[in-house]
Amino acid sequence: MTSPHELLSNNQRWATRVSIQQPGFFERLAEQQQPTCLWIGCADSRVPASCVVDAKPGELFVHRNIANVVGHTDLGVLSSIQFAVEVLKVSHILVVGHYGCGGVGAALKQSRLGLIDNWLCPIGEIARKHQCKLDPSLEFDTRHARLCELNALEQAVNVCRSSVVQAAWDRGQELGVRAWIYALKDGHIHDLGLDIRSTRQLPTAYENVLKRLDRQWQGPAEPMPV
Ligand code: CO
Repeated sequence: MTSPHELLSNNQRWATRVSIQQPGFFERLAEQQQPTCLWIGCADSRVPASCVVDAKPGELFVHRNIANVVGHTDLGVLSSIQFAVEVLKVSHILVVGHYGCGGVGAALKQSRLGLIDNWLCPIGEIARKHQCKLDPSLEFDTRHARLCELNALEQAVNVCRSSVVQAAWDRGQELGVRAWIYALKDGHIHDLGLDIRSTRQLPTAYENVLKRLDRQWQGPAEPMPV
């Protein structure tokens, strides 16, 4: 277990090491940030955004919450999207789910955990929308992995439908929205195959990802990712 005290001393050591290895690094970063990607991911401590893509400070603009939910009334995520798109002018928005997501699992089990049940409500709706793919006769782990993938996909669709992204595409801004999923068991990110650059592409691209996932799920039995 890492204590706050240890975190502070780790920080001192890290800042000193970076200053020695790359003189002027912090001074340059203090001037401005120019990330090209916005990462929307889960707050899970095992999925630290910059770390898993080996990004340096300044390379990734990050918004994380429980189960990477993109709600149309959540001022937090909407403001992050607006700032990233309109001020930082990122070219890509990455919605990154992960297998074994506790929030997704709780929504699937319909657990009663308190306040968070409200937060996870939209994931329950995704489960209902795709209930034919989440048949209760399937193992829980299989349904859980599928819903983690579907959640990343549906939240990326929510990004595409947000007023900020719609306005960016209307004015011709170059902006792509992707859906990825991270596997805790081996640290690898899998591309779910969604790469949207305009409103027009959305319906077909979404259907294609669903078909691809279906083929993958019907394919030869493989150990499910965790
Ligand atoms: Co999670």
